[in-house]
Amino acid sequence: LTLAAPAAFMRRAIRLALGARHRTSPNPTVGCVVVRDGEVVGEGVTQRVGGPHAEVEALRAAGERARGGDVFVTLEPCCHHGRTPPCTDAIVAAGVRRVFAGVIDPNPVVAGKGVRLLESAGIETHVGLLDAENRRLIAPFRRYVTNARPWITLKAGLTLDGCIATASGHSKWITGEAARRDAHRLRARADAVMVGVGTALADDPQLTVRMVKGEDPLRVLLDSALRVPTAAALMGRGTLVFHAPEVSDERRRAVAATGAETQAVPRAAGGGLDLQAVLGALAGRGLVSVLVEGGGRLHGSLISAGLADEACFYLAPKLVGRGLPVLDLPSVATVGEGWSLDEVETRRLGQDVRVRGVIRYPVAPRSSED
Ligand SMILES: NC(=O)c1ccc[n+]([C@@H]2O[C@H](COP(=O)([O-])OP(=O)(O)OC[C@H]3O[C@@H](n4cnc5c(N)ncnc54)[C@H](OP(=O)(O)O)[C@@H]3O)[C@@H](O)[C@H]2O)c1
Repeated sequence: LTLAAPAAFMRRAIRLALGARHRTSPNPTVGCVVVRDGEVVGEGVTQRVGGPHAEVEALRAAGERARGGDVFVTLEPCCHHGRTPPCTDAIVAAGVRRVFAGVIDPNPVVAGKGVRLLESAGIETHVGLLDAENRRLIAPFRRYVTNARPWITLKAGLTLDGCIATASGHSKWITGEAARRDAHRLRARADAVMVGVGTALADDPQLTVRMVKGEDPLRVLLDSALRVPTAAALMGRGTLVFHAPEVSDERRRAVAATGAETQAVPRAAGGGLDLQAVLGALAGRGLVSVLVEGGGRLHGSLISAGLADEACFYLAPKLVGRGLPVLDLPSVATVGEGWSLDEVETRRLGQDVRVRGVIRYPVAPRSSED
């Protein structure tokens, strides 16, 4: 390890953060490594809300060995008294020589102040090591603090001809076991999973984490008229059902009697519930990331509202003919007017292929006079 470049230590900090996803919301997921004489002397990740931040954990582990050493941290250290004391104080007190921070904190109460504070305390500070990786890591938190809504990932298992179900609505199972296990892993990392009532009625999903170890996320259902049967598998504690304001008290009480929570939100002008209101309510509960598991109508309306951030599609080598499309959306006129994915990652899972990327929205075509 003695000759390892700074990038290797930052990569280690990123790996620590990736292992802690979800457990820290609404705090950002941060990893930190303290290095002295080319050797890792302390590591830390942000703990649950109210617990110590990554830097404090890592410095505590390093103890006296942090003096004169380097700190590699995926996000700019915080400089404000939130639920815990400022990390910059801990770094200064530890006598660290240099700090390598991945990205500037998008949270307006920090936003560069942490770095300036460290510099004015005489600590050499560098920002931007492994910039792309660190930006990707902080993207959900950036969305949460800048747009007051969670990061939205659309997830679906589809046939090679782009369907999530046959025309009759049959969808079990399009993908194989490895892909389904991977999808459970995504669930375990999300703060919430969300479906439309069409999916709840057709598939009766449980939306719990089963094929891997992990905690169940909050289950969220969009159901304007509360059509969901009270015996549905996703009903019960740990479920939040959004509905339109005018549902009968009797119906709402029946859903609430299962242990599920209900919340009224306005209807959208074009039908269904107002998605901004839904996502704002989820952010209000401190939820930073939501995995949307269908169906096509919900995916379609999130895309057309410009609210879907990322797609994670599992493509199975199956063909079903004219079935239900993964996005129930009117077609665009030309391919250029459609959407594309950036930062694309592909992974083979058994016979299936996972394609994941950040959704890039088309820019309105400029008129010739421009
Ligand atoms: N292969 C896969 O990965 C996968 C995953 C999921 C589902 N599926 C399949 O997809 C089918 C169900 O999809 P679907 O498109 O019919 O239903 P859906 O998207 O699950 O649910 C749509 C319904 O949700 C409610 N909703 C409330 N607000 C909404 C909003 N803003 N935008 C969109 N919907 C909103 C609406 O009903 P109200 O107006 O009554 O509220 C709407 O009809 C099933 O056949 C299922 O098997 C496949």
